[in-house]
Amino acid sequence: MDKEVDLLVRRLAGRGLLEYRVSRSPNDEDLAVIEPQVPDYWPRTPKLADADAVVLSRFAYMRRRGTEIVLESPRSSALFKICAPEIAAALATLSKPRQIRELRRQNGFPGAQLLALLLDCRILVEIAAGGDGDLRRAEGDDNLVLWDFHDLLFHARSTQGRHANPLGGIYPYAGAIPPLPPVRPCWPGKRFDLCKLPAARLADPSAFATLLRQRHSTRSFDDARPITAAEVAQFLGGTARIVSKSAGRIGLDDTSPLVEYAKRPYPSAGGEYELELYLAVDRCEGLARGFYHYDADRHALVPIRADMREFEALLAGARFAMAAPAAPQILITVAARFGRVLWKYSSIAYALILKDVGVLLQTFYLTATDIGLGGCAIGIVNIDLFAKMTGIEFHVEGPVGQFALGRGMTVVTSD
Ligand SMILES: Cc1cc2nc3c(=O)[nH]c(=O)nc-3n(C[C@H](O)[C@H](O)[C@H](O)COP(=O)(O)O)c2cc1C
Repeated sequence: MDKEVDLLVRRLAGRGLLEYRVSRSPNDEDLAVIEPQVPDYWPRTPKLADADAVVLSRFAYMRRRGTEIVLESPRSSALFKICAPEIAAALATLSKPRQIRELRRQNGFPGAQLLALLLDCRILVEIAAGGDGDLRRAEGDDNLVLWDFHDLLFHARSTQGRHANPLGGIYPYAGAIPPLPPVRPCWPGKRFDLCKLPAARLADPSAFATLLRQRHSTRSFDDARPITAAEVAQFLGGTARIVSKSAGRIGLDDTSPLVEYAKRPYPSAGGEYELELYLAVDRCEGLARGFYHYDADRHALVPIRADMREFEALLAGARFAMAAPAAPQILITVAARFGRVLWKYSSIAYALILKDVGVLLQTFYLTATDIGLGGCAIGIVNIDLFAKMTGIEFHVEGPVGQFALGRGMTVVTSD
């Protein structure tokens, strides 16, 4: 019986359906309740010796949720509902490293078990004895050092995979607040009417204007006539292939760091070109089904050995997001090498990356239209799934956009 209960508990835990109560002893009041944010969270309590020192992560934050206080972090795979006020007070003393020995003597000591659980979730960080005192560096590798607090939080909370909040187009305020009208009400004042003016002439107005007008989202594809490898090559070459390289110093003197640049066909903030393309190929004539990285320098596709269940989950996610009858022939995941932008920009880095994604998506749409293919931008990406498929930690390189690509259905009219 115990075995069966254990199996059931593991199964429920594997789906993120369990909460875990932490108290000083079984009959005591809860100190905290742990709410998993990722399906495979399992509470672990790494050993803490008296001489070990811990500090609060710079990514951890406490906030009010309804009438509760919750402690969370974009790096954590669980959220902690704080039930005892003394815990919040004790955590507030961890703005600088403190030894477990010292914490034990403190009034309202959170208990070694809770500290270990917080450490496991990276809400607390262990500080090595004799470290150089650089708390930012102690927390992780260089890739993590570069992140601003709000940027990592924005990334982890505005994507799928690392939180358990409601997600996507679920109309949370329908019935409570009326929707805004699609067109902004007019400002008062005398209108300057542009319709009366002769249309401004562009170099090739008809070709570009027609392309813009023709562009639309295609969510279902003609699987009897899949996209071909030659079309994929044309699409990638036209949108994302490196067109030139250069290098420049960041300052005026010769000793300032030298940065290399690799330009692609679309504009990119700071010329950083941090976006990488990963193709999940479901159906493509001349290209084997599988997961690939686009090498924008050599204009080549490099296969990545991914778990087939995860590959299918990626395609299924795109199908679901488009409410489409089948998976797209090709799903392009746009991933950012965050460090390219974070190294240069403070406060605005993640916003710039998302702007770059928007620019690239329109480039995809127009190129697909131009070469007779169909496509659709997809607003939800699962950053945890991508991390599993690539083995790259979510703060190093991760998805920030997706685009379904393929041959659209030919519309046959009867007259
Ligand atoms: C950033 C972005 C995200 C989008 N996400 C989705 C999506 O997840 N699912 C979907 O079916 N369409 C998605 N779309 C497509 C829009 O629904 C579509 O562009 C819009 O309805 C206008 O239609 P059109 O593209 O055919 O002109 C997205 C478009 C953009 C630009």
